Amino acid sequence: MINRRLINVLNGQTEKTPPIWLMRQAGRYLPEYRATRAQAGDFLSLCYNPDLATEVTLQPIRRFGFDAAILFSDILVIPDGLGRSVRFVQGEGPQLDPISPEEIMDLDPSKVIDHLSPVFEAVGKIRHELPEETTFLGFCGAPWTVATYMIAGHGTPDQAPARLFARKHPEVFEALINCLVEASILYLVKQLQCGADAVQIFDSWAGVLDDALYVTASRDPIARIVAGVRAQIPDAKIIGFPKGAGMRLEDFVSVTGVNAIGLDWTVPLDWARDALQPKVALQGNLDPTLLMSDERHLDEAIDRIMAAWSNGPFIFNLGHGISPQGDINLVHRLIDRVRSYHG
Ligand code: CP3
Repeated sequence: MINRRLINVLNGQTEKTPPIWLMRQAGRYLPEYRATRAQAGDFLSLCYNPDLATEVTLQPIRRFGFDAAILFSDILVIPDGLGRSVRFVQGEGPQLDPISPEEIMDLDPSKVIDHLSPVFEAVGKIRHELPEETTFLGFCGAPWTVATYMIAGHGTPDQAPARLFARKHPEVFEALINCLVEASILYLVKQLQCGADAVQIFDSWAGVLDDALYVTASRDPIARIVAGVRAQIPDAKIIGFPKGAGMRLEDFVSVTGVNAIGLDWTVPLDWARDALQPKVALQGNLDPTLLMSDERHLDEAIDRIMAAWSNGPFIFNLGHGISPQGDINLVHRLIDRVRSYHG
C-alpha cells in the first residue's frame, strides 16, 4: 500500500510527525539549482525543459528528503501560454508588456494547454522518478495574483495598478479573471491527470484587497477553480494559499472548500488552531527569515508551531517561499527537529 503522509493529512488525518516541505524549496539557495539554472540559460527555458525541470524538482528531495516535491515551474507560465511573452530579467524579477483592455478581450484560455505540453511531460517524469512515498504537488497562481503581473507588467509593492484597473474597467477585469479561472482549471486538471497527487493555488497578493475585491477577485474565482477541478476529478486534493488574508481566512476556507489552508507567518497560532483546524488541515507558517537567523530563534519558533498545531491535521511549511539567502544547515536542522516529534 502506498502511504503518502501529506495526502493522509489532506484527507483530514493527523500524522504524529507532520509531513514537511518548503515553498520555493527548489531555488537559488541550493548550489545544484544554480548550476542547472546556468546550464538552462534563462529561467523560462528551465521551466520548459522537461529533463532539467525534473532535475531541479528532485534536487531538494535528494538533499533533504522532504515529504513532498513541488513541480518546478512558475505561476507566470499561464500568461506566457496566453501569448503575453513573459521575460525574467536577472535581479529584476518578471517583466511582461502591460495588457490593454482590448487585448484582454482577445485572450483565449484554451491556448495554454498546447503551449504547456513540456510542463506536463515534466509532471509525468517527476512522478515516475520520485520515491513512492513522496507526495508530488502541482500548482498554479490564483487569478488575482496572476492578473496583477499581467496588468502592471512587473511586481509592485501593493498592486495598486491592478486594483485601479479593476475599478476603471470592471467588465474587462472580470473577463480577465474569468479567462484565468478557465485556464487554471484546464492546467490543474491536466497536472493531476499526468501524475500530480495534489495541487496548490498561490494567491500571494490576496492581502492587498478591500472587502469587495477580496470576494470578486480572490475568493470566488478560487472557489470556481476548486469546483471546476472537482467536476472532472471529484476527489482532487487542493491546498489554498491566500497570503495576507488574515481575518478572512475562515470565510476563505468555508467558501472555497480547499482541503488545506496555507498560512503566512503573521497568522496567530492559537487562533488558527481553534478557528481553522477543526475545519481544514493547516500548512505553514514559519517566518522564512528564521532560516537566515540562528539556531536558537529557529528552534524556539519551530517548537511554538509544533505545540500549537501538531495535534491536528498539519503540514509543516514556511509562511512564504525560502529566500535565496536561506541557510542549508538551518534547513537540515528544521527537518531534523520536526521529525524528532512523534506525537
Ligand atoms: O516552490 C518551488 O520550489 C516551485 C517553483 C516555483 C517558482 N515560482 C520558481 C521560481 C513556484 C511555486 C513559484 C510561484 C510563484 N512565482 C509565485 C507565487 C508564490 C510566491 O512566491 O509568492 C509568484 C508570485 C511568482 C512570480 C515570480 N517568479 C516572481 C515574482 C519571481 C522573481 C522573484 C525571485 O525570487 O527572483 C519569479 C522567479 C522564480 N520563480 C524563481 C524561482 C526559483 C527565481 C528565478 C531564478 O532562478 O532566477
